[in-house]
Amino acid sequence: MKTKMKQNGMVLLVVVMMLAGLLTGCGGSGASGSSDPGKKELPTVGIVQIVEHPSLDTIRQSILAQLAEEGFIDGETITVDYQNAQNEQSNLKSICQKFASNNYDLIIAIATPSAQAALGETTEIPIIFSAVTDPVAAELVDNLDAPGGNITGTSDAVSAQMIMDLAREITPDIKTIGALYNSSEVNSVSVIDDLKEYAAANGLTVVEAPVTSSSEVQQSATFLAGKADAVFSPIDNTVASTMPIVSKTLNKAKVPFYVGADSMVNDGGLATYGINYTVLGKETGKMAAQTLNGTAPGTIPVMTMKDMDIYINQNTADEIGVTFPQSVLDKATVLGNE
Ligand code: TRP
Repeated sequence: MKTKMKQNGMVLLVVVMMLAGLLTGCGGSGASGSSDPGKKELPTVGIVQIVEHPSLDTIRQSILAQLAEEGFIDGETITVDYQNAQNEQSNLKSICQKFASNNYDLIIAIATPSAQAALGETTEIPIIFSAVTDPVAAELVDNLDAPGGNITGTSDAVSAQMIMDLAREITPDIKTIGALYNSSEVNSVSVIDDLKEYAAANGLTVVEAPVTSSSEVQQSATFLAGKADAVFSPIDNTVASTMPIVSKTLNKAKVPFYVGADSMVNDGGLATYGINYTVLGKETGKMAAQTLNGTAPGTIPVMTMKDMDIYINQNTADEIGVTFPQSVLDKATVLGNE
């Protein structure tokens, strides 16, 4: 019922825009600002992002590019309200409360904490989440294939096992692995659980130094540098947003730093086995467009990225004195050269 009305709304909007184009004789593209009080209001899309770091920024740009490709252009056919929570839970809450009370037409939530905050504020407004590592553990959906309700999206689930197999191919002498992550990010906890299972099965010891905010990251990195043969960070937003400091600390100590995402390799991590976030953003944009066109999000299965690639940083390897085996070089994309 509600979605039907939305569909009709879109049709009406298109007709109004075509008429406007005829009247002004200017083809109707871009000339109609939402500020004109005589015009019907454009559908509003709220984008909430937990923090700005390169991967989440790539995702957001890719979502917007895909929406534009499908005719949803900010300032022309939709209004986009983008808000960054600066890694503060209280900001997330107030942003999502505002989106909900303004009754926006769609919320796009980038990363796990954003999606949890959005779902906490509305069960009515469609929510498309992006790059949520473990949507079930995050209690966003019960069933990836049939989410139900007002929510669906994309997952960037990675495999701690694949990253650790790669780590041991590059640095076979690892016995103790340091786990650097924010224990309040469900996306990280779920991957660290897998890391612990892997360690138990492969005779490795995990040393943990969880943080709860970005101000603690450097201290934890320094602690782990003195305790572990290598450090592992999952796809953790707090670590990703402090990568310049963390990678400097670990690289100076010559400790191999294995990470969860290509952007973290680009920012000085040694290597990962990860997904392509531009593609993930595009897929998220397609779901957002489908929803704006009237499909109920709960009927769209959650999409998990299947293709994974190896990313390595040659500068970091040189700095810490690691030589990549040919078997890795043959398969890897080299980052961090710019
Ligand atoms: N997967 C993360 C989450 O669920 C978000 C994320 C996407 C991310 N790309 C990243 C985190 C790169 C760190 C680095 O919240």
